[in-house]
Amino acid sequence: MDGIYASFPPDFLWGAAASSYQIEGATTEGGRGEGIWDRFCKVPGAVRNGESGAIACDFFHRYPDDVRLMRELGLDAFRFSVSWPRILPEGRGRIEPRGLDFYDRLVDELLSADIRPFLNLFHWDLPQRLEDEGGWTNRATAEAFVELAEAVAARLGDRVTDWSTHNEPWCAAWLGYGYGEHAPGRKSRIDAVAAAHHLLLSHGLAVEAIRREARDPQVGIILDAWPAYPATDDPADAVAAQSVDALRNRFFFDGALLGKYPDDALELLAPIAPPIREGDMAALSPRLDWVGVNNYSRTVVRANPDGGEPFEMPAANGNLTAMGWEVYPSGLYDVLTHVHRAYAPASIYVTENGAAFPDIQGHDGAVRDPERIEYLGSYLEAVAQALDEGVPIRGYFVWSLLDNFEWSLGYGRRFGIVYVDYPTQERIPKSSFTWYRDLIAAVRVDTRRVG
Ligand code: GCO
Repeated sequence: MDGIYASFPPDFLWGAAASSYQIEGATTEGGRGEGIWDRFCKVPGAVRNGESGAIACDFFHRYPDDVRLMRELGLDAFRFSVSWPRILPEGRGRIEPRGLDFYDRLVDELLSADIRPFLNLFHWDLPQRLEDEGGWTNRATAEAFVELAEAVAARLGDRVTDWSTHNEPWCAAWLGYGYGEHAPGRKSRIDAVAAAHHLLLSHGLAVEAIRREARDPQVGIILDAWPAYPATDDPADAVAAQSVDALRNRFFFDGALLGKYPDDALELLAPIAPPIREGDMAALSPRLDWVGVNNYSRTVVRANPDGGEPFEMPAANGNLTAMGWEVYPSGLYDVLTHVHRAYAPASIYVTENGAAFPDIQGHDGAVRDPERIEYLGSYLEAVAQALDEGVPIRGYFVWSLLDNFEWSLGYGRRFGIVYVDYPTQERIPKSSFTWYRDLIAAVRVDTRRVG
């Protein structure tokens, strides 16, 4: 690892990421309205053990302690999301001041610890009232999202500089409306395509709203990137991998960054077409100050021999994390260099990278996670290699600061560099916490020397 320190510029941002529903808890406090995940978690079988984010990591109350952990790490930035139903309980119209008050307190706590708040507006926490009116398949939800952007930017735009509109719109659209694995649990390709388009449209409208309300904001979008590789050198597998890349990645990257959906994605979706109206493609692709890339692993794809879906993704093998995802750091290098070449964004952040492993407390109470250290080290080497090749990567956010609610897997997967003992809410820094802290300090020393 020592050899990579010099690759990181002196102003490189070291961060950690989390999201509202996964850590806050307090889902019935402060006037918060019902969200789609509150509802979805009540559906029998939807979430492991019927778990929910009702308590989660109780970040709503414990954030000062967690900011102290961030300060101990030496973080430059903390990426969090706001809970839409906490701020607009009915989704639009009436603003709940206690909701904004919480984020106001959080931002001030972060700033007092010299940590930059990276505020993401939407991390899947949609008000149930809007879902009852069609959710992301209803174009009006994109307009309601502008109200959220305006309310948050008006209140926090004097102190928050770094803004994102969405986290992983593919997940919100396809896991939520296409495959039914996430809230709201719909299973319709037509709904997923409409949701994807309206999510991106809402992104564009919200960028303009943030720039109207906030002082000198740097605005981006956070997209997940799962590079797709052919299983063999059979040309049919290469075509299949291109198809996965079109639907999983390029529909969103091309849409938001080029203002055009890729032809092969539209052909694969046919006869379903996104509900595009005149002017939409320009509206959903405003100039951005940065793009965030979330990457954990890769997909290996082969042509489907017996018709149906044009491709299939065999179960990953090799070195796997507890999610069954292959440890494949070259995938992050490939993603970063591809985004740089294909879209030439002014700045790129690695806005999520991390791994779940079966962390357990030793008899001495310590949580040792050498696999996570190995994983993070190998992916940071990939970031360093991309930096050495001129990719404008401005920062890295580990997913996640704390163990947290992993959506339909509940609390069954631990991604944190801090172990959370949920029954007691005790935080126990894992060995990866110490490793990350020491890495940040060493890079700083090294770049000061180099700088
Ligand atoms: C995502 C989300 C996070 C997940 C993390 C681990 O990328 O799916 O942004 O909420 O918890 O990625 O799966």
